[in-house]
Amino acid sequence: MPIAASVKEIMNNKGSSVIRKMFEEGIALKAKYGEDNVFDFSLGNPDMAPPKEVYQAVQEVAKDENPSRHGYMPNAGYMETREAMAAKINKEQNLQGEGKLCGKNIVMTVGAAGGLTCICKAIISPGDELIVPTPFFAEYRHYCGHFGGKLVPVKSKKDFSIDVEGIKKALSEKTAAVLINSPNNPSGKIYSEEEIRELAKVLKEHGEKCGRKPYLICDEPYRAITYDGKKVASAFPLYNESMVVTSFAKNLSLPGERIGFVAVNPKAEDADELVAAIIFANRTLGYVNSPAFFQKVVAKCWDAKVDYSTYQNRCKMITKVVANAGIEFVQPEGAFYLFCKAPLPQKEENKKYILKNDDGEYCDEFAFCDHMKKYNVLCAPGSGFGCPGYYRMAFCVSEKTISGCEESLKKAKETW
Ligand SMILES: Cc1ncc(COP(=O)(O)O)c(C=O)c1O
Repeated sequence: MPIAASVKEIMNNKGSSVIRKMFEEGIALKAKYGEDNVFDFSLGNPDMAPPKEVYQAVQEVAKDENPSRHGYMPNAGYMETREAMAAKINKEQNLQGEGKLCGKNIVMTVGAAGGLTCICKAIISPGDELIVPTPFFAEYRHYCGHFGGKLVPVKSKKDFSIDVEGIKKALSEKTAAVLINSPNNPSGKIYSEEEIRELAKVLKEHGEKCGRKPYLICDEPYRAITYDGKKVASAFPLYNESMVVTSFAKNLSLPGERIGFVAVNPKAEDADELVAAIIFANRTLGYVNSPAFFQKVVAKCWDAKVDYSTYQNRCKMITKVVANAGIEFVQPEGAFYLFCKAPLPQKEENKKYILKNDDGEYCDEFAFCDHMKKYNVLCAPGSGFGCPGYYRMAFCVSEKTISGCEESLKKAKETW
C-alpha cells in the first residue's frame, strides 16, 4: 500500500479534512452561482491587503542585488531579524529588565505552523502529552501527532474561559506542555491575565511535585486583532518555562509568505538548550530556515498594522446578522471568527441529527453545515476544533458577503 496507514486514516477522518474541502467546494460553488451568491466563511484567509509599509519594504529588499541575499543562512534566521522580533515582543508585551528578550531567544520559522511543529519536535517524545483547552486550532493534533505525542483536549468552561482545575486534573508525568491560543481560533476568546496566572501556578506546583516542568506554549498569531480595546496578557512574566509562537499571517495579511517565529522566555531554566533544539528541528524537519526575503521585509516593517477597525466593524455586522437569524454564538473579543451553536432541528425529518452528551442535547453540526450549503453558506464544523455542536464562521470576508448572507442564513434556520 503506497500511502502510510496513519496518514490515510487521518485523511479519511471527517473532522480533519473538512475545512480545506469546504474551501475547495466554495471555489466550485462560486464558479457555478457567481461570487456574489456564495457566502464562504470557511477559511481564516485575511482578505485585506497588507499595509503600505510592507510594499515599501518589499521594494527596498528587492533592490539589494547582493547574491548572498538569496543564500543559506544560520538555521535560526538572520540575526538582524531575530533582534527585530525580540524588540517586537518586548514592546508588545512591555517586557523589562531580566525578562527582556534579545535575538538569541528567537528562532525564525515557516509561519506559526512551522514554529509549532518545530516546538513539538523539540519537546515531545513518543507517548508524551500536549494539553489544550477546547476549542483549539484543529491542526494541533497533527503537529503533535507527527512525533508520537498525544493531544489531550480539556473542556473549557461554558463561557470558553480556561478550566484551570480541569487542566490540573489532566496533568501527568507525560505532560510535555500546555498549549493556549489567545485570541482564540475559533472562539474569539481572550484569556485574562488572571486565568494565565492561575494556570501558571498550577503548572509550577505540578513541576515541583513531579520533577518535570511542563512548558506553556502561547500561540498568538491574532495578538494584534482585538476588539473594544481588549489586551492580550503576557505569559512570560507569569511563568518562566514559556514560549510564544506567532507569525505575520494575520496581523500583516501575509499568510502565503510563511513568515513567523518562536520566542523563548529568557528566564526558562533551559532557555539556550531549548532554542538550540528548536533550531535543530527547523533544520532537520526540512524547513532549513524561514524564507530569506520576507525575513528581510519584516525586519523593516514589523510594527506596521492593517486597519483592524475593519475587522471590528465586520464583527459588529456578523453578530447582528447571525443574531437576526436566531442563532446563538460566542461574542468574539479578538481574531476574526464567530463560533456559533448549531441550532437543534425543528423539522421532523432532521430530528435524527439531535445528539446527546453529558451537557444534554446538541445538534450534529456536520449535518447543519451540509444543510447551510444548500443556501450557499459555507462554515467550518466545530468537531475538528474539539467542540461538536458548534461551527465557525471566519469573517475575514467582505461586508457584502456578511450582509448578503442574512436571508440565506434565516432560510437555512427556518427549514432546519
Ligand atoms: C491558532 C492558529 N495557530 C497557528 C496558525 C498557523 O499560522 P501560520 O499561517 O502563520 O502558519 C493559525 C492559522 O490559521 C491559527 O489560526
